[in-house]
Amino acid sequence: MGKCCKCNSRLLCMCLLPCMMTGHLLVYIMVSIFVTISYTPPKITIHYVAPGISANSSALASHPLHPFWNLRLEDSALWNQMQHAWDRLHNPILLGNTTGMMRNPKAKLISKIEDECLSDCMAPCSVPRVHGLDSFPEQMRAFIRSMHCREYPLLINQPGLCRKNSSLDSPMLVMAIKSQMGNFENRQAIRETWGRSGLVSGESKKKGGLVRTLFLLGRQDSSTGPHPDLTNLLELENRRYGDILQWDFRDTFFNLTLKDLLFWHWLQQYCPTATFVFKGDDDVFVRTSALLDYLHVQWEEHILWRAFSNDTDMNLFVGDVINNAMPNREPSTKYYIPGSFYKGGYPPYAGGGGVVYSVSLALRLKKVSERVRLFPIDDVYLGMCLHRLGLSPSHHPGFLTFDLPEADRGNPCAYKSVLLVHRRSPNEMLMLWKRLKNLPGHC
Ligand SMILES: *[C@@H]1O[C@H](CO)[C@@H](O)[C@H](O)[C@H]1NC(C)=O
Ligand SMILES: *[C@@H]1O[C@H](CO)[C@@H](O)[C@H](O)[C@H]1NC(C)=O
Ligand SMILES: *[C@@H]1O[C@H](CO)[C@@H](O)[C@H](O)[C@H]1NC(C)=O
Ligand SMILES: *[C@@H]1O[C@H](CO)[C@@H](O)[C@H](O)[C@H]1NC(C)=O
Ligand SMILES: *[C@@H]1O[C@H](CO)[C@@H](O)[C@H](O)[C@H]1NC(C)=O
Repeated sequence: MGKCCKCNSRLLCMCLLPCMMTGHLLVYIMVSIFVTISYTPPKITIHYVAPGISANSSALASHPLHPFWNLRLEDSALWNQMQHAWDRLHNPILLGNTTGMMRNPKAKLISKIEDECLSDCMAPCSVPRVHGLDSFPEQMRAFIRSMHCREYPLLINQPGLCRKNSSLDSPMLVMAIKSQMGNFENRQAIRETWGRSGLVSGESKKKGGLVRTLFLLGRQDSSTGPHPDLTNLLELENRRYGDILQWDFRDTFFNLTLKDLLFWHWLQQYCPTATFVFKGDDDVFVRTSALLDYLHVQWEEHILWRAFSNDTDMNLFVGDVINNAMPNREPSTKYYIPGSFYKGGYPPYAGGGGVVYSVSLALRLKKVSERVRLFPIDDVYLGMCLHRLGLSPSHHPGFLTFDLPEADRGNPCAYKSVLLVHRRSPNEMLMLWKRLKNLPGHC
């Protein structure tokens, strides 16, 4: 019995050993195969700097947010997915081989929509058959339906704004103020106070500069919503002041980005020799003279730098900078961006009220924006474009998005270091303007 047992166990051993070894081998092979299949390239944090749009300017390089060999298409949020498709389309490494793209039917659909839209942007763009479009809130749906269109005709133009006065140089500062048709009072208050067109002296009385003010408008009439028809009044206003730019698109919150894009387009065509742009809302107060002083200093520094480095590009972009912002996921708010539309944080951007940038940068922003999908929040979109240029906005403590402390608002001296303050009604603008008239001598 015992002998047989011993013999049995030896037999068992001899039988089992190869089995176990084969088993181990199988497990090893399976694990290897699994690892190979699921292998993704390591994330590399160094940005690949592609020659981008223009081989001449390294500043125009596009910065794909993912390693450029990542052939897998983003399939998370709509905006990311669309942007990724563009990045691949414009990535010189992948140019000429879009095999990975063609394999993905969604990517094919997006590029098809793209072709249709590029061929005729003025016709109502075919609504992209985005999966689950109905699940987006109404204004988001309106945005998605038209986000392929970024060219709208000018209804009111100012072709001569920059050459009205041949005896003077190009404007030092173009003030581009986003307004709406009905805000006559705001525009008039701005014309009478901080947005006066013409030669404006600096606060230090040394140097001033030529300022040209423009109001950026979309369309608001019976065809775009329940609006009274103010077209004739606007025409009258424009005949009197000649400072209105109006484009043929619905003037809504989510369409504000279009004003930036179309303004850059206008600037390139009609006023590329200006030096700086202020872009802001019609409910802010700007201390224009102090701003001119600040810009003179920036300009002089740039001239020195240019002599030293041969770098003619001026990269000024200042405002109230917000870092590490996340999309607002609260459906009841104006800034709500659903997770199914945009995934990830926002790049650094200058929020609220107004920003100042150089025209040289504006022209590059215009160019790079051709590679960045429209985003419904204009400030964030500018941040995205800057990011693509490899730049970040600079924070300036003089830009007060959230106003002064309540107790200081009536004290003129509290405004001494302020360049911009949000928000002020037309009446408050007039009062503040009067009180800040001789600020430097006062404080
Ligand atoms: C590149 O620069 C050269 C001269 O510096 C110029 O002739 C050419 O037009 C530029 N090309 C582009 C695409 O800007
Ligand atoms: C793209 O890559 C595929 C293989 O992945 C190859 O067959 C094809 O010829 C390539 N196309 C171009 C234009 O290089
Ligand atoms: C043009 O400049 C002159 C002074 O050089 C000034 O009197 C006139 O108002 C200016 N015109 C416009 C339209 O700005
Ligand atoms: C933006 O304007 C276009 C053109 O008028 C319009 O079709 C679209 O619905 C508007 N978008 C939003 C979000 O209102
Ligand atoms: C600046 O550019 C000029 C002409 O483009 C060239 O002659 C000069 O050597 C450059 N200087 C520097 C410091 O790069």
